[in-house]
Amino acid sequence: MKISDYIVLSNGVKMPLLGLGTFRIEDSLQIEEIVKEALNIGYIHIDTATVYNNEEGIGKAIKDSGIKREKIFITSKVANDDQGYETTLKAFNTSLEKLQLDYLDLYLIHWPRSLNKETWRALEFLYKQGKVRAIGVSNFLIHHLEDLLKYAEIKPMVNQIEHHPYLIQQELLDYCIKNKIQVEAWAPIMKGKVFEIPLIKELSKKYNKTEAQIVLRWNLQRNIVVIPKSAHKNRVRDNANIFDFEITEQDLYKINSLDRNERIGSNPDEIFY
Ligand SMILES: NC(=O)c1ccc[n+]([C@@H]2O[C@H](COP(=O)([O-])OP(=O)(O)OC[C@H]3O[C@@H](n4cnc5c(N)ncnc54)[C@H](OP(=O)(O)O)[C@@H]3O)[C@@H](O)[C@H]2O)c1
Repeated sequence: MKISDYIVLSNGVKMPLLGLGTFRIEDSLQIEEIVKEALNIGYIHIDTATVYNNEEGIGKAIKDSGIKREKIFITSKVANDDQGYETTLKAFNTSLEKLQLDYLDLYLIHWPRSLNKETWRALEFLYKQGKVRAIGVSNFLIHHLEDLLKYAEIKPMVNQIEHHPYLIQQELLDYCIKNKIQVEAWAPIMKGKVFEIPLIKELSKKYNKTEAQIVLRWNLQRNIVVIPKSAHKNRVRDNANIFDFEITEQDLYKINSLDRNERIGSNPDEIFY
């Protein structure tokens, strides 16, 4: 299966358009099995975070896979509790140790918080040290990005946000494009809810693809990176089978029209933990 399409970030780093999401599969044999299977199928991009509590299992699976480090793109994220300059540096080293790696491909601020400035300075330091190939943010709205861009010496290369047919956030997407910030979609298949949307069901029949494949492909054709998660090997395989068909412009537009500005996850302006 071809799973190798990528986009080029503003600093020239290649980022695979499809990655494996790993939220809610904690350290266990299960995470090792799922990541091994994903790598075996051809995934070369894994998304994790300190708070997912699965970096050790992912590290083991990568090591056991025998795949060369430079062939795999690994993202992790600074937890809210670790924000701040020294605490971020420490958290980054802990992530590296758990993953058994000596650098990350992408390191993100998980949520906008009051200590973003200090945290961003730490990410810039890690980037300059060559410990991470690209740095970015997650769940940043336009006003968070505007604030960050005032003090950032290095601009964020990625913003990982909740993005799916019910939450398109077109203004935020336009702002990111204007500032050369690559958008990456979390909850791309709406945690399974895409299977219940009549238009997506209709398109699933029309293209002979699953509902998940339709919305993942819709993202790819809009140049948005996707990281669907599944704890089932057959679904991990199915979710990657999205490089052999094309959705028409008209159908892409129909999917866009489903937007309701409706979140599944937390509103970044209402995060208080
Ligand atoms: N930056 C952030 O704040 C943030 C927040 C949330 C998530 N993320 C990242 O984004 C990734 C994806 O988001 P997500 O996990 O929240 O949601 P998602 O990928 O949209 O959906 C995952 C859910 O859909 C089900 N599913 C997956 N493939 C399926 C298929 N082919 N058929 C039927 N059901 C399927 C999974 O069930 P099974 O597992 O039972 O198959 C799981 O319950 C996360 O894993 C994480 O890496 C980031």
